[in-house]
Amino acid sequence: MVAQQQSRVLVTGGAGYIGSHTCLELINSGYQPVVLDNLCNSSAESLRRVAALCGVDAVPFQQGDIRDGALLDRLFEQYPIRSVMHFAGLKAVGESVAQPLAYYDNNVGGTLSLVQAMQRHGVQRLIFSSSATVYGDPCTVPIREDFPRSATNPYGRSKLMIEDMLMDLHQAGPDWQLALLRYFNPVGAHPSGRIGEDPRGIPNNLMPYIARVAVGWYEQLSVFGNDFPTPDGTGVRDYIHVVDLAKGHVRALAAFEAGTVPNLLAVNLGTGQGYSVLDMVQAFGEACGRPIPYQMVGRRAGDVASCFADPALAQQLLGWRAELGLSAMCRDSWNWQYANPTGYDR
Ligand code: NAD
Ligand code: UFG
Repeated sequence: MVAQQQSRVLVTGGAGYIGSHTCLELINSGYQPVVLDNLCNSSAESLRRVAALCGVDAVPFQQGDIRDGALLDRLFEQYPIRSVMHFAGLKAVGESVAQPLAYYDNNVGGTLSLVQAMQRHGVQRLIFSSSATVYGDPCTVPIREDFPRSATNPYGRSKLMIEDMLMDLHQAGPDWQLALLRYFNPVGAHPSGRIGEDPRGIPNNLMPYIARVAVGWYEQLSVFGNDFPTPDGTGVRDYIHVVDLAKGHVRALAAFEAGTVPNLLAVNLGTGQGYSVLDMVQAFGEACGRPIPYQMVGRRAGDVASCFADPALAQQLLGWRAELGLSAMCRDSWNWQYANPTGYDR
C-alpha cells in the first residue's frame, strides 16, 4: 500500500468515459493517477467530479497529446510513474473508414510515442485498451482469447496493429508487463450519476442513443436489422457495466505488481452473456419507466450477428468477473442521462 501511494499511474485518455471511471476506482483502491488527455472527445469536468466523488482535492491533469514526446518526457520526469494505463485513442468505426490516416496516426502513432517514452524512462508496465473488435467476425461464440484475430475496419486494424506491436515488444524484452484488455461493449455509468458517457454529436453506439431517446433528444431508435440469425433477429452483444470494466483494470495492475500473472496478458473483459437490441430496448424502458420508441431499419454495414465473450480467463488469472447485470447497466445509464441531459456541457 505504501508503495502504491508513493508511485503514480499515468492514465492516458483519463478524462474520457472508461478512463474517468477507472481513475475513480484507482483512487478508491489507494493508487494515485495522473491524467494526460487532449480533450478531443472529453471534458476536464469529468475529473473534477471524480475528485469530488473520491474526496480528494484534484486528480492531477495535464492537457496534451500522447504523440508529444517532449511532453511525455516532462511528465515522466515530474511524477514517479511506475505504470501506465492507456485509454487515449479514437474509437468511431465509421469515422475510421472515412479518415483511416487519422486513426493510424492517433492510435498506432500515439501508442508508439507513448511506449517509446516509457522505454526512455524505464517504465515497463502498460495496461492497454484493446477491444473485442480484434476478433473481427467470429466464427463461433462465446469468444476465447485464442480465437483468430482480424480486422474489418481501420479502427479495428489500429487495435490489431497495437496488439502486434506490444507482442513484439514483449518478445524483445520479456520484462515488459503488457496487458491487452479486450473490452466487449462498455455501458452504464457510475451509480452516483455524476460521471458517465458523453459522446459528441449523434451517438454511434446503442446505449447512449437509447438514453437520448429516453430523455427526449431523439424521437426513436433505429434498430439496425432484424434478420440476423439470433433469437429475435436483432444483433446480440456482451454489454458490460463500466464500473466492472474499471475494476478489471485495477485487478490487472495489482496482478502485475504482485507478479501473479504472465508478463504478456491478453484477456477478455465481458460478462459472457449476450443481449439483443430488443432486450436492451426493453430493459432500458423498465429502468426509465416508459417504453423506448423504435423502428426497424436495414442492417448497418459491417455489423456481426452475435458477439460475446468467454470470460473464464479473466476469472482464472485476475480473479475478476463482472458483477453488475443488465438492470444495473440501464438504471445507471438512465441516472446519468437524466441528471445530465446535455452531458458535461462542454
Ligand atoms: P473516450 O473517447 O471517452 O476516451 C478516450 C479519451 O482519449 C478521450 O478523453 C480523448 O480526449 C482522449 N484522447 C484521444 N486521443 C488522444 C491523444 N492523441 N492524446 C491524448 N488524449 C487523447 O472513449 P472510451 O470509450 O473511454 O474508450 C477508451 C479506450 O477504450 C479507447 O482506446 C477505445 O478504443 C477503447 N475501447 C472502447 C470501447 C467502447 O465501446 N467505449 C470498446 C472497446 C475499446
Ligand atoms: N444498434 C442499433 N441502433 C443504433 C446503434 C446500434 O440497432 O442506433 C445495434 C447494432 O447494430 C448492434 C448493437 O446495437 O447490433 C450494438 O451496437 P454498438 O454500436 O453499440 O456496438 P458494436 O458492438 O457495434 O461496436 C462496439 C464498439 C466498437 C467495437 C465493437 C467490438 O462501438 O468500437 O463494439 O468491440 F469495435
